[in-house]
This record gives sequence, C-alpha cells and structure tokens, in this order.
Amino acid sequence: MGKLCVRDLYLLFIFATTNLCLGCFEHEKLALLQFKRSLDPEPSSRFSSWNGNKCCEWQGVGCGNETGYVTMLDIGSNISGIYTQLEGNDLNSSLVELTRLSYMDLSGVHFHNILIPDFIGSMSQLRFLDLSFTGFSGVIPHGIGNLSSLRELHLQGNELMGLIPTSFGNLVMLRKLDLSLNLLNGSIPFSIGKLSNLEILYLRYNTITEIPSSIGNLSQLESLDLSHNLLQTRLPETIRQLSKLQYLDISNTSLSGVLTEAHFANMSMLKHLDATLNHNLRFKILPDWNPPFQIRNVLLGSCKIESEFPPWIRTQRSLFILNLSNTSIYGPLPNWLCELHIINVIDLSQN
Ligand SMILES: *[C@@H]1O[C@H](CO)[C@@H](O)[C@H](O)[C@H]1NC(C)=O
Ligand SMILES: *[C@@H]1O[C@H](CO)[C@@H](O)[C@H](O)[C@H]1NC(C)=O
Ligand SMILES: *[C@@H]1O[C@H](CO)[C@@H](O)[C@H](O)[C@H]1NC(C)=O
Ligand SMILES: *[C@@H]1O[C@H](CO)[C@@H](O)[C@H](O)[C@H]1NC(C)=O
Ligand SMILES: *[C@@H]1O[C@H](CO)[C@@H](O)[C@H](O)[C@H]1NC(C)=O
Ligand SMILES: *[C@@H]1O[C@H](CO)[C@@H](O)[C@H](O)[C@H]1NC(C)=O
Ligand SMILES: *[C@@H]1O[C@H](CO)[C@@H](O)[C@H](O)[C@H]1NC(C)=O
Ligand SMILES: *[C@@H]1O[C@H](CO)[C@@H](O)[C@H](O)[C@H]1NC(C)=O
Ligand SMILES: *[C@@H]1O[C@H](CO)[C@@H](O)[C@H](O)[C@H]1NC(C)=O
Ligand SMILES: *[C@@H]1O[C@H](CO)[C@@H](O)[C@H](O)[C@H]1NC(C)=O
Repeated sequence: MGKLCVRDLYLLFIFATTNLCLGCFEHEKLALLQFKRSLDPEPSSRFSSWNGNKCCEWQGVGCGNETGYVTMLDIGSNISGIYTQLEGNDLNSSLVELTRLSYMDLSGVHFHNILIPDFIGSMSQLRFLDLSFTGFSGVIPHGIGNLSSLRELHLQGNELMGLIPTSFGNLVMLRKLDLSLNLLNGSIPFSIGKLSNLEILYLRYNTITEIPSSIGNLSQLESLDLSHNLLQTRLPETIRQLSKLQYLDISNTSLSGVLTEAHFANMSMLKHLDATLNHNLRFKILPDWNPPFQIRNVLLGSCKIESEFPPWIRTQRSLFILNLSNTSIYGPLPNWLCELHIINVIDLSQN
C-alpha cells in the first residue's frame, strides 16, 4: 500500500521536467494572470510579453533555475529605467499561490488608497519587498511581522498612518527599512531593538514623536535618518552605542536637550551629521575634545552651540561642508580656519 512503482516515479520525473521545459507551472501562470487582471495597464505596457505558457520568460518574472517555481516578480517603476504608470484597483490575493516568491517589487504601481492587504503576511519566503510610492494608505498590517526572511522592506512614499507595528521586531534578518514619507506617528516600537542586522533605517517625513532607548541595540546601523519628524524629546543616551554609524540626520525634528562629546565617543565612522533646524538642541562639547571620526559634512545651522568657534573642527582633515549658521557662536574666528582649505562650503552667517 502506498508504494510508488518505478513507472510512477518515472511519470513524476517527466512531470517535473515537463514543467521546466514549458517554463512555468500552470497554477503559477494562472496566479500571475489573475494578478495582472487586477491592474490596469496601458495597451503597450510592460505586460506585452505576458503571453503563452512560458511565464518564467515573461518580463519582470523570474524563476528558480532548478525548481522552475516563480521566485521574482519585478514590475516596479524603476525596471530598466523605464517609468510606465501602472494602476491597480486591488492587490490580488492570487499572489499567495507563488509560494517560492522571494523578491517582489511593485514600486510606483498606483493602488488607489487601499490598505496593504493582510495576505502579504503569508508570503513567508519574501526576502525583498518594495511597495514604495504605491498609494497604500491606512495602518500597516501587523502580519508584515511574519515575513521573517525579509532583508529589505521599502514602504516609503505612501499614506501609511498610525503606529509602526510592534511585530516589526520579528523581522530579525532585515538590513534595510525605509518608512519615509508617510503619516506614521507615536513612538517607534521598543521591539525595533531586536533588528540586530539592520544597517539602514529611514524614517524621514513622518510625525513620529519618540525614539526608544532600544535603538542603541542596532549594532550594525550605518545610516539613520529621522529628519522632519516631531520628536520634541531628547535623543536617547543609548545612541552612543551606534559605533558603525556613518550617516546621521536628525534635522528639523524639534529635538531638545543637550548633545555632548560622549554621544559621539564611539562613532568612529561618522561622515555626515545633520542636526539643522532644532532650535532647542544644544551642543556642549569640551574645548579639548579629540573626535574619533574624520567627518565630511557638519550641518548644525540653527542649533545652539553658544560658545567660541568649536576647536575640535581643527582635527578634521576631510571636511567638505561646515554649516554653523545661526548657532550663537561668538568671539574671533581662529587663525587656523583658513588652513582648513579642504572645506568646500562654509556658512558661519547669523552669529
Ligand atoms: C542557476 O544555477 C546555476 C548552477 O546551478 C547557479 O550557479 C546560478 O547561480 C543559478 N542562478 C540563479 C539566478 O539562481
Ligand atoms: C532607481 O534605481 C536607481 C539605481 O538602480 C536608484 O539609484 C534610484 O534610487 C531608483 N529610483 C527609485 C525612485 O527607486
Ligand atoms: C482576484 O482576481 C480574480 C479574477 O480577476 C477575482 O475573481 C477575485 O475576486 C480577485 N480577488 C480579490 C481578493 O480581489
Ligand atoms: C502570522 O503568523 C502567525 C503565527 O505563525 C499566524 O497565526 C498568522 O496567521 C500569520 N498571519 C498572516 C497574515 O499570515
Ligand atoms: C496617530 O494617527 C492615528 C491615525 O491617523 C490617529 O488615530 C491617532 O490619534 C494618532 N495618534 C497620535 C498620538 O497622534
Ligand atoms: C535593547 O536595549 C534595551 C535597553 O536600551 C534593553 O533593555 C533590551 O534588553 C535590549 N535588547 C533588545 C533585544 O531589544
Ligand atoms: C520640518 O518638518 C515638518 C514636518 O515635521 C515639515 O512640514 C516642514 O516642511 C519641515 N521644514 C523644513 C524647513 O524642511
Ligand atoms: C562603545 O561601544 C562599545 C561596544 O559596542 C560599548 O561597550 C561601550 O560602552 C561604548 N561606549 C560608549 C561611551 O557608549
Ligand atoms: C535662528 O535661530 C532662532 C532660534 O534659535 C530662530 O528663531 C531663527 O528663526 C533662526 N534664524 C534663521 C535666519 O534661521
Ligand atoms: C546653512 O544652514 C541654514 C539653516 O540653518 C540654511 O538656511 C543655509 O542655506 C545653509 N547654508 C548653506 C551654504 O548651505
């Protein structure tokens, strides 16, 4: 009972290779066509190759070269530099049929202000998901936290609102997270501290009000952009643990409190610091501080320095932009300033 005979195995073998030869599994082809029907492409669109049985050869579709299953769906606006406006009335759940899908780029496809559907949380093989500039609105579904294989998640440029789900803390493989240009508010969840592989975190242009102390656990973080939010608090002390940080943008965030040399003591890789337009943020740096970094851009316009020209600048040999305008620095400019001829742009106005 239940024993496969040689002939059955032979037929199975034929079945599998046949699918490879046809360049597609039938149920995956049907799922792709159903997905296509839920979009509204222009006549001469990028779907012109979506004919016949060989769906692995359709433009924007890729298959695993041993299994023959669909592993990639790339109809993002950036494909080969061509921008074709695609519109969708809904993101059809037929996509869950593509059980091996690991790469999905739908960026720039305009869905008309619908919610990100819950079924996205069941596409568990996804390693790369780009839904940027797609017009999705409303709350981010909790289920996205199920996508524990994700390496990159791009949700920027939508109308996503409310809190970042706590479940994001389960995305422990994540290297890049971009939630910029949305309407997200409240605190970043404390669970973000679990993303120990995160290298890039972009949250600019939201209305986020608080950064949790667990941000200091993001030991691989290289780029942090919190600009144009409503933080109105202090940066957590733990920020000083981010020893791999190269790019830090906290401009226009209504931050308050004091930043001292201790905050930067571990940031030996820092290349770009932008804290522009934080009227209540004070920099209190010891005169004899010797920074661990060689920085390129220092943008502190309209923060409060309220001291003489910062002596630590003298230690920097690769400065490109130095903007200390409107920071209430006073006293004579040091003689060594003109020796820093590496500086490309310097703005010391309004002091
Ligand atoms: C296809 O298979 C070959 C050999 O098995 C492998 O070297 C290659 O990386 C595979 N390509 C993709 C896209 O998986
Ligand atoms: C398009 O792709 C290029 C390189 O692949 C990238 O630099 C650029 O940011 C992309 N643009 C968008 C809007 O995603
Ligand atoms: C997906 O598309 C099929 C066929 O176009 C349609 O019958 C079905 O209702 C769609 N599913 C959803 C969830 O919209
Ligand atoms: C997420 O995972 C949980 C537990 O594994 C499961 O119960 C739930 O149905 C999943 N959610 C989605 C949207 O797939
Ligand atoms: C956050 O946004 C949601 C949805 O727009 C809203 O209901 C909620 O009141 C906002 N919370 C705060 C603290 O602003
Ligand atoms: C992260 O940091 C906080 C303190 O800032 C700590 O309590 C927590 O245990 C750390 N670990 C994780 C995984 O978030
Ligand atoms: C500062 O951020 C707010 C959003 O918090 C934005 O509306 C405003 O345009 C920004 N100002 C500048 C100068 O970028
Ligand atoms: C610098 O980083 C190391 C290792 O991450 C940590 O042990 C140390 O406490 C940090 N120093 C400061 C001043 O935060
Ligand atoms: C200079 O900073 C003060 C507050 O510190 C602010 O009120 C003023 O608008 C700023 N001036 C310019 C020109 O940015
Ligand atoms: C320096 O920063 C101020 C904001 O405080 C900005 O208005 C000004 O354009 C910047 N200067 C240069 C040269 O970019």
